[in-house]
Amino acid sequence: MSIIIKSPQEIESMRIAGRLASEVLLMIGEHVTAGVTTNELDNICHDYIINTQKAIPAPLNYRGFPKSICTSTNHQVCHGIPGHRRLKNGDILNIDITVIKDGFHGDSSMMFCVGKPSVKAKRLIDTTYQAMKIGIDMVQPGVRLGDLGHAIQRFSERHHYTVVREYCGHGIGRIFHEDPQVLHYGTPGMGMALVPGMTFTIEPMVNAGKRHVKLLPDQWTVVTKDHSLSAQWEHTVLVTEHGHEVLTRRPDEEF
Ligand code: MF3
Ligand code: CO
Ligand code: CO
Repeated sequence: MSIIIKSPQEIESMRIAGRLASEVLLMIGEHVTAGVTTNELDNICHDYIINTQKAIPAPLNYRGFPKSICTSTNHQVCHGIPGHRRLKNGDILNIDITVIKDGFHGDSSMMFCVGKPSVKAKRLIDTTYQAMKIGIDMVQPGVRLGDLGHAIQRFSERHHYTVVREYCGHGIGRIFHEDPQVLHYGTPGMGMALVPGMTFTIEPMVNAGKRHVKLLPDQWTVVTKDHSLSAQWEHTVLVTEHGHEVLTRRPDEEF
């Protein structure tokens, strides 16, 4: 595979898909409350994507994934499958939304807290957001993927957290996961240089404990080996002539 540079017309489609993904995250927030099941959150998102947005939830049946969104709680790192468990006060969770509109993907995830989070959980969530933002802020032509990965890793580790290595950001467009791989760790000056028209995600997974993860028997849910808390945020980003555009930006966000 190789990098697919998007045309102005394709970029316009990516903007629309990105906006839809962000709007699902804005919509679902008020439903994340104690007592709700992650299946119920999945149903609400599925219905909204299909019936309101007239779009397609990309995860559904993707390589056999059984639901329309990913919900990863507490020590779950990513790819959690919505189920019958009820959220309770103090839980933190990532909701990861990918929609397809007119053939193009928009992919974004964010953290939610049920009730008031612990100080530890809030610190992890906020630091992980900052780690993602540091990566996004660096995006411009000529910057290398290794520069991004290094900055995200260095920032996270400076806060005594660890970065998951087994999963990474990815090119995105007509294909959900295309080249390049966007590692959230790395070496400055290494990796490919960014070029205008590239679209990819930045989606660091940051653990409060050790970086190691394991896959649950359901073959999807990734958890921390030491059961420490994990957080993740994700945006889809376009490289522009002189910088970047965050295609899944929500109105309250700075970039
Ligand atoms: N949205 C995830 C990502 O950020 C991928 C989910 S794949 C699924 O790349 F099959 F688990 F949905
Ligand atoms: Co992604
Ligand atoms: Co995602």
